[in-house]
Amino acid sequence: MSSIVYTVFLFITVAVKSRFTDIYASKIYTLDVPLVVRNGTGPIDLSCIYNVNKNENGLVIKWYHNEDQIYQWIPPMPPQDVGVINGLAEYPEQNLKYSNSRSIIRLKMAIIEMTGEYACIISTFQEEDIRRTKMIVYVPETSLSIHASSFNESHLNLICIANGGQPRPILKIYIEGIEVNNYHDKIVKTMGYTNIVSGTRSAIVKNPLGPLLLECEISIPQTDYKRREKIVYYPTQMLPQISSASNYKIGDITFIIYIVLLLK
Ligand SMILES: *[C@@H]1O[C@H](CO)[C@@H](O)[C@H](O)[C@H]1NC(C)=O
Ligand SMILES: *[C@@H]1O[C@H](CO)[C@@H](O)[C@H](O)[C@H]1NC(C)=O
Repeated sequence: MSSIVYTVFLFITVAVKSRFTDIYASKIYTLDVPLVVRNGTGPIDLSCIYNVNKNENGLVIKWYHNEDQIYQWIPPMPPQDVGVINGLAEYPEQNLKYSNSRSIIRLKMAIIEMTGEYACIISTFQEEDIRRTKMIVYVPETSLSIHASSFNESHLNLICIANGGQPRPILKIYIEGIEVNNYHDKIVKTMGYTNIVSGTRSAIVKNPLGPLLLECEISIPQTDYKRREKIVYYPTQMLPQISSASNYKIGDITFIIYIVLLLK
């Protein structure tokens, strides 16, 4: 190709391209992904709603999960998927009819590994558009408890223990409804956060003179998941007969024991 021909070719390409840009505006309108989903629930739809003009060629729709490509659709071929959604994604016929306006991934259920950032990219020979959003898949804790034990002669050690909450939960300790402001450990200590998930948080407080309502609250960041577990702690000098009074949960039995002992 002589340089003049090449220059003319380039000029035409640029001219055609800039005209097409105006005519064919491929654009993503919405990327509709639930922000928070509980592990094991479903089905859920991940929807990328866009507009591609019928005259545009070379349509390819791609989805990414974090840095990994998980989906590619080159209509009229069926979509292909890999990675975290593979084996859990479905593509009902109905959803495949509208390749110039939407790409929908129906997940039979959400699993914890699906947490992360999702990106939908639509491209044609003329255009490309991208949208991103995130999804958090959480797992409620399997157990939550609060314990009080003697720290030294004058102080109590309060420990809140949560097993199984994911992603890494926030734990707070409340005494008579007010959050303690001097935690022994500044953050939630975790153990085995790859498989057996467990977190603790503790506070050291002065021995109370009377019964104390103690609560442990678990919450999962960026979700509205929140739960509390309560106990009533009875100072040991009030109940010398019961050494592990702290382990009694609030409830009729606790109160009955308490009243019976007071009546003695
Ligand atoms: C998430 O849910 C799946 C499906 O019910 C289950 O197999 C898996 O063990 C759950 N993960 C956790 C961490 O609980
Ligand atoms: C018990 O521990 C607390 C907190 O460290 C401390 O302030 C207090 O003086 C200790 N009491 C005794 C009797 O050692």
